[in-house]
Amino acid sequence: MDAQNLTNQPTKTRFQYDDDEKAETIDEVATESSNLENDTAMGEPEGSLVASDEKTSADYYFDSYSHFGIHEEMLKDVVRTKTYQNVIYKNSFLFKDKIVLDVGCGTGILSLFCAKVGAKHVYAVECSSMADTAQEIVKHNGFSNVITILKGKIEEIELPVAQVDVIISEWMGYFLVYENMLETVLYARNKWLVQDGLVMPDKASLYLTAIEDADYKDEKIEFWNSVYGFDMSCIRKQSIMEPLVDIVDQKQIVTNSQLLKTMDISKMEVGDASFTVPFKLVAERDDYIHALVAYFDVSFTKCHKLMGFSTVSVDGLNKGEGPKSRATHWKQTVLYLEDVLSICQGEALTGTLTVESNKKNPRDVDITLNYVFNGGHCKASRTQYYRMR
Ligand SMILES: C[S@@+](CC[C@H](N)C(=O)[O-])C[C@H]1O[C@@H](n2cnc3c(N)ncnc32)[C@H](O)[C@@H]1O
Repeated sequence: MDAQNLTNQPTKTRFQYDDDEKAETIDEVATESSNLENDTAMGEPEGSLVASDEKTSADYYFDSYSHFGIHEEMLKDVVRTKTYQNVIYKNSFLFKDKIVLDVGCGTGILSLFCAKVGAKHVYAVECSSMADTAQEIVKHNGFSNVITILKGKIEEIELPVAQVDVIISEWMGYFLVYENMLETVLYARNKWLVQDGLVMPDKASLYLTAIEDADYKDEKIEFWNSVYGFDMSCIRKQSIMEPLVDIVDQKQIVTNSQLLKTMDISKMEVGDASFTVPFKLVAERDDYIHALVAYFDVSFTKCHKLMGFSTVSVDGLNKGEGPKSRATHWKQTVLYLEDVLSICQGEALTGTLTVESNKKNPRDVDITLNYVFNGGHCKASRTQYYRMR
């Protein structure tokens, strides 16, 4: 999920992704798809909503999920979408004859997967006007009797049932928690999930590592120090505060990776998405550190065999260990440091990272980084503030 891409997220690509791996085929489960096409409970499009062909950029600015482009990007993220499909198709026992709630259904893709493996009923909630399109898609595919699209915010809609057996959602944002949709999933869980019901995915973990990135730091951050001979370093201050969403080349990684936080979506409280954690990154070679890099993974632990995916990619941070994985649309999140740290193999960069949703706009994420480095060739200690918006 990344509404940022349609607004102004300063992304860049250092590495051209060679899309040679076509979506692998998946074992289709033989389930009956109904051809009944009775319209379901979705309300009529509200008068205030603008028809998609009449939308202006202002409409999209405030409701980026109503444009098909962002859904196209998510659906074409094969790591993401195939994992959900595999989880559902290969674990149909978790969905068959169950009442499912799809939190933020977008085009309805996850609901369709669930309906296909025999869910008793799927309530698919979507707050953007993509709900109208999802309704059309559900009807075209003959699932109107199984999937009910409900247009509105989870926090405001009424569900026709008191409880659901399974909650499925793709809520993850850049840096895992950007956009704060996890809170919406927890709200739905607390309100409707039956005792011992399933939340899918049910685990999410955030990791940190450190990279050498002189060229790009110069190009993006130090650039502002002298622009055609003029000092624009006031923009440098803003620029360094913005985490950069991008694919990092594995060759840039200087230290080990550290697990910062694992969230148990089935048990955690809303406040648990804000946290302060210590870290210790140990250099694997002599090099310079220009930035820290965060990435995440999610898992579905209730599957017959553990399933999930990581935003580490073979192009990015995966050093070839474990199964090959492709870059996801979440890429990685780069936090540039004020200091350039000359680090020797075996030396450690230590500190704490605080992650919290912004008080004024809870969709934004405030990140506070404290670091201390006492190396043989270099010493530094600093607090830096970042804001993902
Ligand atoms: C990341 S997209 C996932 C869409 C779809 N489930 C998929 O996997 O392709 C998240 C969707 O949740 C919707 N959404 C976000 N917050 C919501 C809320 N509070 N209530 C209902 N829908 C919400 C967004 O409009 C968006 O379409």
